[in-house]
Amino acid sequence: MAKGFLHLHMTVVILFMLFFGYKLILLFANKKASLAAFRQKTKVVDMILGSLILLTGGYLLYALHTFETYLVGKLILTLVAIPLGIISMKKENKLLGLLTMAIFVYNFGVAETHSLTFKREKIVIQPEAIAPDTTAVPAETPASAILNQNEEAALKNGKAIFTQVCAACHGQDGKLGVGGAKDLSLSKLPHVEVVQVIAKGKGLMQPYEGVLSEQEIEAVANYAEGLRSK
Ligand code: HEC
Repeated sequence: MAKGFLHLHMTVVILFMLFFGYKLILLFANKKASLAAFRQKTKVVDMILGSLILLTGGYLLYALHTFETYLVGKLILTLVAIPLGIISMKKENKLLGLLTMAIFVYNFGVAETHSLTFKREKIVIQPEAIAPDTTAVPAETPASAILNQNEEAALKNGKAIFTQVCAACHGQDGKLGVGGAKDLSLSKLPHVEVVQVIAKGKGLMQPYEGVLSEQEIEAVANYAEGLRSK
């Protein structure tokens, strides 16, 4: 459901931008008669597209239960850009038209990078979750014990990352399903694909590459796989 809304949202935004871009070209080419005729013809479509952008965007915000800064920023900018676009065409104001287009293009970047500055902050995992340094084990500890200890520590890290980052959508047990999040207890994805989904994102799930380190992604992937019903 939420995934469908995401596609619909992107489609209406692109359509709106195409219509607006065409009008902007007519405006800059000083083809005022063509512009007026085109505006007249697309008036209703434009209104529908503008409303759909806000409705689908609003629904996604609601479905995700999150008010991350970049989403709120995007919403405010869209609320500014739509009337600005209408005014710019009505007044045949090139500068306002360009400004509207710039806001839409900027919003695309925000959506893509999940950040208002196009730079995503690294997620800092709470210190109590950091694994103890296992290099300082007594000499007589057998290798298998060190391995076990490392594995345990990695899983503990995985759990801490999951709680802090993933549980908002997937729930602590993996079954919550906010915004169409897959039930992780029923997932059958092989490990490489789990790592892939976490790194690259999918649908409404954002990519965590660059935000979490490779080891952290590996750890949280293992933890998520551990939530599967056996
Ligand atoms: C904003 C909500 C959200 C957050 C936060 C989130 N996910 Fe997801 N996750 C989703 C959604 C939605 C899907 C379904 C994607 C699709 O198929 O379109 C998904 C799918 C997955 C899948 C694929 C399951 C399958 O069988 O297809 C895995 C694995 C996964 N998430 C793990 C994680 C992990 C680990 C984290 C934390 C690092 C995380 N997710 C954070 C929303 C989220």
